Amino acid sequence: MAFPTETVYGLGALATDPAAVARIYAAKGRPPDHPLIVHLAAADELDRWAAEVPEPAARLAAALWPGPLTIVLRRSPRLPSAATGGRDTVGLRVPDHAAATRLLELVGGPVAAPSANRFGRVSPTTAADVVADLGSAVDLVVDGGACRVGLESTIVELVDGAATLLRPGGVPAELIEAVLGAPLRTGEVGPARASGMLPSHYAPGCRVELVTADAWTARACALAAAGVRVAVLATGPTPPLDGAADLVVLPASTSVEEYARTLYRRLREADEAGAEVLLAVPPPPEGLGLAVADRLRRAAAPRPSS
Ligand code: TXA
Ligand code: MG
Repeated sequence: MAFPTETVYGLGALATDPAAVARIYAAKGRPPDHPLIVHLAAADELDRWAAEVPEPAARLAAALWPGPLTIVLRRSPRLPSAATGGRDTVGLRVPDHAAATRLLELVGGPVAAPSANRFGRVSPTTAADVVADLGSAVDLVVDGGACRVGLESTIVELVDGAATLLRPGGVPAELIEAVLGAPLRTGEVGPARASGMLPSHYAPGCRVELVTADAWTARACALAAAGVRVAVLATGPTPPLDGAADLVVLPASTSVEEYARTLYRRLREADEAGAEVLLAVPPPPEGLGLAVADRLRRAAAPRPSS
């Protein structure tokens, strides 16, 4: 079943039941070697599902759980490798959402849950998004309203002594570094480590182009003059545009938190408005802005032809 968390809606199955986990991969159309995040009701279950809990991991869990942080650790043999794409590590997270916590308590076990969208597409932030994307592939959707954070958890890997940022997300990297008292390693972790880190991911149907705040009006006019239906996701006030009457100007956000919370909704709105191209102005890549800029870059990345 699909259920709300503070980040995005997840598609959950009991992580200790390989047949249930297989249905997640089928519903999403996700390659079977892509690991799932395993959700726990409370932080004190961490050492049951991780083979070892290094001190920095315990510190992060104590400081930031429940919350939008996933910690990748060595997998306990209690957890079947079906949920972890065959890996010997597991991403664990305690969500900060009353309905998710209640569900996890009722299940009484770890729940594997990727975002409840088809592979490669925009993550759902409402129950209606889940139904629109996955439809009858899902037995049940718990409707908890719109997600508070709006994009996925930050993923930090803590094996072999180093702390590596695998995916920027709802907890700013700066906050994690403050808790660890050390900088996070980033960059070359290999494209298959986190599927959310594939170059093209989180993509709407329309083509996404990244532009700077002072360049989008000229680009919008040029595209409109060429007969292209354009939507704009800008950060500031939008001036009236001559010669681009057909322009879809999506509501701008007034804070980076709002930008994060509404990003996936806006990508969907661009599609609903029939836009062929979405011009998006990324926020500065700091704090939550790092995750917003990351998702926009992936939405704009060249897509494999299909
Ligand atoms: O906020 C979130 O994290 C949401 C909610 C539902 O909790 N979940 C989510 O799951 O975004 P998903 O499957 O869409 O993204 C999980 C990411 C994938 O990129 C996956 O490759 C990575 O986490 N991941 C999971 N386990 C991992 C592991 N053991 N090692 C490396 N990456 C892992
Ligand atoms: Mg996902």
